[in-house]
Amino acid sequence: MLRNKKILLGVTGGIAAYKTANLIREFRKAGASVRVVMTNAATYFISPVTLSALSEGPVIADTFPDLHHWQISSDTWHITLGEWADIFLIAPATANTIAKIAYGVADNPVTIMALSIRCPIVISPAMDTFMWENKATQENISKLIQRGISVLEPEVGELASGLKGKGRLPELKSIVKAVDEILKKQKMILKGKKILVTAGPTYEPIDPVRFIGNRSSGKMGFAIARASAKLGADVTLITGPTTLETPMNVKRINIETADEMFKYTKKYMRTSDVIIMSAAVSDFKPIQKSKRKIKKENLKEENLTIELKKNPDILEYLGRHKLKNQILVGFALETENEIEYARKKLKNKNLDFIVVNNPLLKGAGFGYDTNIITLIDKKGKIKNFKILPKELLAEKLMSIISEKLLNLK
Ligand SMILES: Cc1cc2nc3c(=O)[nH]c(=O)nc-3n(C[C@H](O)[C@H](O)[C@H](O)COP(=O)(O)O)c2cc1C
Repeated sequence: MLRNKKILLGVTGGIAAYKTANLIREFRKAGASVRVVMTNAATYFISPVTLSALSEGPVIADTFPDLHHWQISSDTWHITLGEWADIFLIAPATANTIAKIAYGVADNPVTIMALSIRCPIVISPAMDTFMWENKATQENISKLIQRGISVLEPEVGELASGLKGKGRLPELKSIVKAVDEILKKQKMILKGKKILVTAGPTYEPIDPVRFIGNRSSGKMGFAIARASAKLGADVTLITGPTTLETPMNVKRINIETADEMFKYTKKYMRTSDVIIMSAAVSDFKPIQKSKRKIKKENLKEENLTIELKKNPDILEYLGRHKLKNQILVGFALETENEIEYARKKLKNKNLDFIVVNNPLLKGAGFGYDTNIITLIDKKGKIKNFKILPKELLAEKLMSIISEKLLNLK
């Protein structure tokens, strides 16, 4: 099942840590090699000596060497382990460690690895039900999921406290199975390919406090960036203002205006194999930006007129300057005659694919976690997708785009 796979196991200080002795045996029985990193709290629940004996390797139980030892040498174990591992499983993951990872704290062997490792990360939380259901824990878990970390849902059952509820570490066999499935899904087919994704709204300033914007949340673009990075691509994400977490292994560039988005898109377009323009770029911007806040008391009339001018058409520019074998994907957001309009846009802007969505449909468009889309390719072939979470849609889109990219002659 896991033949020749290299699993880095991060053990943290929950009562379920004692189960990791058997977990290591299960992994090894399935054909994997295991290395272990632990937090100091974890060493109170299971001895590093036990885990070292079962994994037949050294266990990292502290960031620094023991200063009281007669001979001290520094060791860059985090680099070596980072290069070695195919997957990093944190089991059990305490509420404390989950919070630290959510905020990028790197103060022990487990949290350092979570920040520095390039392979997929899986966490298996285990804790008392109240800790699990606490808003802080749930918000931290959402953050990790947004970044592309896989979370194995804790099971319902008897807890160490004697209470019954959600929070138990899943059965060891199902952890092994989940790790196997994540590794199987992890096909790095886009390794060496460069993908540029744009996401979110643009803000066109009227004065220092006001702007013309739109309701784009950036969720679809972020999901596409995450799906591309999971396939091994080198991803650059240019995004307008949003509160979303940067997906793992993605280079993020924050912009505000359409002009800034244009500047950075031009910078990266020549080196990109695929460009996916999912940002909702404002078509217009105020001709003049007031240096000071416009005050209603200073207006001579009842009405305030803001004159607008067209923003650069980034998609049109990219279509005109498209390189040979470069794939350009546009998005169309229309509330009527979507397909007809999208077909025209696909042709006029020299796109390879256009993704069409109608924000008036329930569960589609701005702000939702789901979307309903239609994909049209250059030959006019239409593929309708049913309502799906944006994460899943992004994976489906990337699998179609990757197939096209890898078959280009
Ligand atoms: C007996 C005992 C059992 C604990 N069990 C858990 C647990 O199952 N899950 C959890 O999140 N924290 C648990 N804690 C609290 C953690 O040990 C504590 O938050 C610690 O700081 C975690 O450190 P770490 O995340 O660096 O391993 C337990 C504490 C004690 C004393």
